[in-house]
Amino acid sequence: MESRRKNNQIALDALQQDIISNNIAEGLAEEAIQMVFGAGNPDADIVFIGEAPGKQEDAQGLPFVGAAGKLLDELLGSVSLERGDVYITNIVKYRPPNNRDPSPEEKKAFLPYLHKQLQIIQPSLVVTLGRHSMEAFLPNQRISEVHGQPKRMKAEVSTEEKTIQLVVLPLYHPAAALYNGGLRKTLLEDFSRIPEILTKIHTA
Ligand code: URA
Repeated sequence: MESRRKNNQIALDALQQDIISNNIAEGLAEEAIQMVFGAGNPDADIVFIGEAPGKQEDAQGLPFVGAAGKLLDELLGSVSLERGDVYITNIVKYRPPNNRDPSPEEKKAFLPYLHKQLQIIQPSLVVTLGRHSMEAFLPNQRISEVHGQPKRMKAEVSTEEKTIQLVVLPLYHPAAALYNGGLRKTLLEDFSRIPEILTKIHTA
């Protein structure tokens, strides 16, 4: 629905402003060129969540526009999806210097905003890309054991004490598959299950 799309975009824009007004991860914000908040359909049925922006994402202000993003485009294409059909974001919204891993504190600081993004968009399926975003929803799991298996769960929205129902599909990070043919094959196989997972959610 067009009006839902518009209203969601307005709410997402306001949430992005809140991150600035509330000085979230000030240290990262000072060093980054800009925030990479997320992109795609604000009323998407699927939300993809990566780790944090890299150099190219920081330069363009958009998620997954570097080499890992090219692979993500291919993976989306393999199930007849385009970027405009889905919403793509990261846990951490500013580039960590020298592409270091985001710290636990940085991930924690952004988590309420990630939850709010999901509350606004209300997707049927949340696809986590890599260990960092998986751990935000499915702590104490090994990606090698749970990748490709959808999990139904409740997520607490810490700032408002609300819970949201989510189906989370943990997948490997495309960057890990760039130079690893085996992982690339696994990612393609896991992606190929997305249409059937969505159908199951819609008919549940
Ligand atoms: N890796 C991520 O996790 N996110 C991006 O946006 C780009 C690369």
